[in-house]
Amino acid sequence: MDAIIAAFLRPYVDQVILGHNFANSLFIPTCIILFSLAQGLCIYFSAYANAWVGNRVTLDAKKELFHKLLSMDVCFFDRSDSGTIALHFNQDAETGFKNLMGNGKAFITRIFSSIGLTVVLFINSWKLAFLALLTVIFIYFPIRIVRKKMRFLTKKNDHSGASATVFYNEVCQGNRTIISYGLQANRERHFHGLLNEIFAVSMRMTRHSNWLSPVMHFIVAIGLSLVLLLGGWLVQSGHMSSGAFVSFIAALLLMYTPIKNIGNNFVAVQASLVAVERIQETLKMNSTSPAAFEEDAEPICLDSEITFRDVSFEYQPGQPVLKNINFSIPAGKTVGIVGHSGGGKTSLIHLLARLYDVTGGAIEIDGQNIQSIPIARLHRSMAIVFQDNFLFSGTIRENILLGNFKGTEEDVKTAVRLAYLEDFIASLPLGLETPVGERGILLSGGQKQRIAIARAMVRNSPIVILDEATSALDNRSEANIQEALNNLMEDKTVLIIAHRLTTLSRVNFILVLNNCGIAESGTEEELLKNPNGIYAQMHQAQFNKSE
Ligand SMILES: Nc1ncnc2c1ncn2[C@@H]1O[C@H](COP(=O)(O)OP(=O)(O)OP(=O)(O)O)[C@@H](O)[C@H]1O
Ligand SMILES: [Mg+2]
Repeated sequence: MDAIIAAFLRPYVDQVILGHNFANSLFIPTCIILFSLAQGLCIYFSAYANAWVGNRVTLDAKKELFHKLLSMDVCFFDRSDSGTIALHFNQDAETGFKNLMGNGKAFITRIFSSIGLTVVLFINSWKLAFLALLTVIFIYFPIRIVRKKMRFLTKKNDHSGASATVFYNEVCQGNRTIISYGLQANRERHFHGLLNEIFAVSMRMTRHSNWLSPVMHFIVAIGLSLVLLLGGWLVQSGHMSSGAFVSFIAALLLMYTPIKNIGNNFVAVQASLVAVERIQETLKMNSTSPAAFEEDAEPICLDSEITFRDVSFEYQPGQPVLKNINFSIPAGKTVGIVGHSGGGKTSLIHLLARLYDVTGGAIEIDGQNIQSIPIARLHRSMAIVFQDNFLFSGTIRENILLGNFKGTEEDVKTAVRLAYLEDFIASLPLGLETPVGERGILLSGGQKQRIAIARAMVRNSPIVILDEATSALDNRSEANIQEALNNLMEDKTVLIIAHRLTTLSRVNFILVLNNCGIAESGTEEELLKNPNGIYAQMHQAQFNKSE
């Protein structure tokens, strides 16, 4: 439509102004107004359509990215910080698609208007048109130089932005440590350092991109000057009408304006392209262990045993955490696992739950390698109470029911009773509907632990894993909860990790982990027979202390 308006100038100048044909004096301005009205409507609807498509694509990308994030294995989360995750799985979709659509629209509009305007140029004078277009070719070279530099700087800038996000997260999650250790000045200093870095990169980007606009202005000015020189001569020598010349210049100015401004949104376009590229990389990432989005898997009915066959494991290549572990737990029995801190107890249960995969040997359930059991089924078969339990923001009831979405009101009540939560919940005005805060921040350590135990109880799965499940409880609560755990463990195959040996009173046998392997195993009685053994010494130390 820009082109049509420019084209109208030719009859207007030639017929109305120079030809004194006033019949057209009203017609052409009216047409211009009507056209610009139509153009306004089109601009509105194209902006709407563009925003719709942009938001829609962003929405779909975010859904797909979140799905990918949930599919990633534990190793991925070990390696990635929260800032990078927020950048790659959320912000990139926004920067990539929303901005790209905005710039894409401008780009497409410009291509179409350039085609129209080029036609007008050629209609008016092909010689001048050639000259004008020849100049346009030269804008390619500066763009190429800036593009390379910007890609590098954009990535650097994103990286620093991600590090800043980590700072915010740490202030939120570590606020108690920050306040009590007086780390405010320290954190501030570190953060200022990072902000200065971001500032420097941002200024470098400005330095490297902002010369583009003046250069474009210069190239366009040369084009325009050449056209004026040649065009003036063509008009004076009668090869071109004045109207054609005015129309030509109008079309050329309309075409050159966006080119002059290319520098302005170049940074945004580069950031979008980098983000889109990264989204592709993110979506192509492989996760070593499969993820299950299935909610109604059936648990295994364990009838024989869980076997660790020559299991070895290392988080980092060359640094073994477990070596040649061999043992089996008969169905319905309970094994206690003890050992020094860092001895690999938690790692052992990570392997059983396939949070990590063994690097040697195999774990079998009823003779079947756990790697060949569908992951949803495997996980449905176990209830784990972790050393650092995670509660989700939501109510106590919601957190308990995360163990089993099909759990009934009765199941929740039973779990609450057996986990010795009844008194605590009765003391809350909102009862089970009390919010627990982000990560359960509003509860005490012991309360969180008991909710986690209740969650494991409603799950009602054949395998129960307790990793220091009662470490946050005092002796009396522990004695109470011990009963609860005994209820939880009834008819189940259980692995209990404990530092407090009293927790192990009901286990069938005990494994002592030391130096990456099983140092001792047997019933408590058998282990105590060797007074120099690790277990006997641990027992001695705790016994003396409590005495
Ligand atoms: N995600 C990880 N990446 C790399 N190394 C790890 C990881 N988790 C644990 N480790 C290392 O593996 C070893 C065993 O850790 P693990 O958590 O299994 O010990 P643990 O016996 O449960 O100790 P604790 O009694 O203190 O809970 C430790 O040396 C630890 O530093
Ligand atoms: Mg542990």
